[in-house]
Amino acid sequence: MLCLTLAKKTIEEDIADFWKNRAYIGIAEIRLDALDFKELEKVSSLTNQVDLPLILTCRRKADGGFWMGTEKKRIQILKQILELGDFSYIDIESDVKRPEFEAFIKSKSIQIIRSFHDFEGVPLDLYSKISKLASKGDIPKIAVTPKTVYDLILIFKVESELASIKEKIIIGMGPMGVCTRILYKKVGSMLCYCSDDDMNLGLLSPRILSELYRADRVNAKTHIYGVIGNPVLQSVSPQIHNPGFHAIRFNAIYVPFLVDNVRAFFHLAEVIQIFGFSVTIPHKIDVLPYLGKSTREVRLIGSCNTVVRKMNLWKGINTDYYGFINPLLPYFDSEQIHEAVVIGAGGASRAVIWALKNRGVKITILNRTVEKAKALALETMSNYDSLENADKYSGRSDLIVQTTPLGMGEKVDFDPAPKLKFLGTEIVYDLIYKPHLTKFLERANDSGCTLCYGIDMLVEQGKLQFEEFTGYHYPSINIVF
Ligand code: ATR
Repeated sequence: MLCLTLAKKTIEEDIADFWKNRAYIGIAEIRLDALDFKELEKVSSLTNQVDLPLILTCRRKADGGFWMGTEKKRIQILKQILELGDFSYIDIESDVKRPEFEAFIKSKSIQIIRSFHDFEGVPLDLYSKISKLASKGDIPKIAVTPKTVYDLILIFKVESELASIKEKIIIGMGPMGVCTRILYKKVGSMLCYCSDDDMNLGLLSPRILSELYRADRVNAKTHIYGVIGNPVLQSVSPQIHNPGFHAIRFNAIYVPFLVDNVRAFFHLAEVIQIFGFSVTIPHKIDVLPYLGKSTREVRLIGSCNTVVRKMNLWKGINTDYYGFINPLLPYFDSEQIHEAVVIGAGGASRAVIWALKNRGVKITILNRTVEKAKALALETMSNYDSLENADKYSGRSDLIVQTTPLGMGEKVDFDPAPKLKFLGTEIVYDLIYKPHLTKFLERANDSGCTLCYGIDMLVEQGKLQFEEFTGYHYPSINIVF
């Protein structure tokens, strides 16, 4: 069940938010503490204007809410609102001891959610905390903040440790907790809070959870896949794989995992039986020691972007290699590519250079740090030079590949080689996919060059991963980023 958190300033806005998201959710939580004070008297009108069960909450500041008044006043307001409106649940913090108030709640057949928050980490006595919260017959709720993959393991094991507690709410907050929200069913949580406003808690929107991840359809048979990286939440790979799984009716989900420690992630992968995962920066080399098998490309390039379970081993694959080269195949078929200039000598550049090398292309590597260009050139029998001398290579190649981060993020306005001039006959390929048209490609376009976009490589490497994950070709669907 997805639970929409209604935390606007007015009841009118809360109602609008409810109906905007009605199609995706099964329950809603009204947060009194977020409302303007004068709106409190209108809360009962909300219960008449929505058609799903409601949780009543007035969160104190110490628990991440906005309530600044006294405890006496808070309980008094909660009681008044319970008298007037129709609520199914009330959320009360674990340290609140008001037997009279609790007796009143029970007399109205409203269920108590007994909540515990930790914004600093995950307590080691997590399981006994949950058991204690559940001991009075209330629904235990723990919202904790995983900071390492080991914390995630603790959270994901709740379900096997405490399977006898059927109704419970388990939430991992913050960026590392995002995977526990998407996989809330695997964590054993009866619901997952969501909102269109992130509130810095790692909340996802109801539409994304429902339409993209189909989180509420996860069951015991769902195969888990994902992407590991740091950072990772900006990854667009979930938008490639999840719709692909859905289109071929494969019961699987693809989740971003923010990973600080690769070794711990391989442990987590056993705990929740992950079937395969994509690997992004900075873990493409760190995963190598854990692979039982690897393809020739992984060994050549020395980095791995795809890991799949094969029998009892983890197999490493590098789909960047083919993802890069596939969009160029028509130009190889028409024999247009003989010489190439590659800008950059980092990890991305290695896959590019080996892929070109294996096609018999003569390569010159241009890099800011000339020693790095030299080392890679020696290994791949290429030429090299400093990026400073880029002008010398104007008009001397059929293909120019840009592999540095210059042109994206904070460096969106940068051109990595402004002195390198285009004749207009070259194919110019930029690995950056956001923005679609980098400053470098824009200049190439103005000169009449043929362009290859980073998004083509991204989609291609994703489709190849999909084949490794599922054994099926990627379906012919429109990928929406
Ligand atoms: P990746 O593994 O994604 O390729 P990387 O290993 O950090 O990332 O490599 C980034 C490449 O971009 C390197 O070639 C780097 O040049 P250096 O070897 O001199 O570091 C290049 N790069 C990064 N920032 C740059 C800048 N401001 N100007 C020129 N080149 C830059």
